[in-house]
Amino acid sequence: MGRTRCTGSPSRRTSWGGTRPHVEGAGAGKCEGRCPPVVLDWGSWNALEMEMGRLLLPTEPDADAHDDGPLTGLSRRTVLRAAAGGLLLPAVGLAWAQSPLSRPTSEDALGPFYPEGHAPDSDADLTSAPGRSGKAMGTLLYLSGRVLDRRGMPLAGVQMDIWQANAVGRYAHSGDDSSAPLDPAFLGFARLKTDAEGRYALKTIKPGEYGRRTPHIHFEVRGAASRLVTQMYFEGERRNESDGLLNAGSAAGRATKMARWIEPSGHHEKDALVAHWDVVLAFG
Ligand SMILES: [Fe+2]
Repeated sequence: MGRTRCTGSPSRRTSWGGTRPHVEGAGAGKCEGRCPPVVLDWGSWNALEMEMGRLLLPTEPDADAHDDGPLTGLSRRTVLRAAAGGLLLPAVGLAWAQSPLSRPTSEDALGPFYPEGHAPDSDADLTSAPGRSGKAMGTLLYLSGRVLDRRGMPLAGVQMDIWQANAVGRYAHSGDDSSAPLDPAFLGFARLKTDAEGRYALKTIKPGEYGRRTPHIHFEVRGAASRLVTQMYFEGERRNESDGLLNAGSAAGRATKMARWIEPSGHHEKDALVAHWDVVLAFG
């Protein structure tokens, strides 16, 4: 019997960055050499994507997950079980499993103080409020980093909403009934976009403690296929070990939310703090 040409749809990109193989529809001819050797119907492929999406969600890993190998944050048992059940194509599954994927940044609570009543600052400097005189009180903090996908590729043009308490732990929000004072020069709400290299940078002040919370900064990061709400924390804070939200997940998840301190350079003001924090989005 002679071979017929491939008559199905061309390969398509999947939501997790792989290539969707040609799917042979009912009555379609068989493929010649360039088509993948294994063919799924749409229902099976959708089931595969759902399973992959479940595995790749930025939630806590399975209890038996290993964090020291190529299946970072995933359970080898889960992957093998899926492959054994015929859900994962051998070629696709093997290539995916061998990719050195980074763990996505863990989610955290949105919190009750998402900014209200004023537009975000867009000049990447929260130490002075638009239309208001004076400088924010507190210790200067230069925060920078990159937004990456799980393969470490930079994500350009990603919108980042950033909000925080002032130096004494008070939010410029009607719902914050703390007795700590507001700072007229600090509104604590910025909106940035990553540059072509996935970088962002913000000049702000180090937020203070409030209630039982250790110092933190809130983020909402909007990638093309991911929306991450989380909080960023600082190494070495006295309340880090007792903060319920910081410690709600695994140690590996906690680590993704922790900025690291960097030695200030000659370009920074005296006594300014410098921190670095990268964000990894599960689906870019
Ligand atoms: Fe907060």
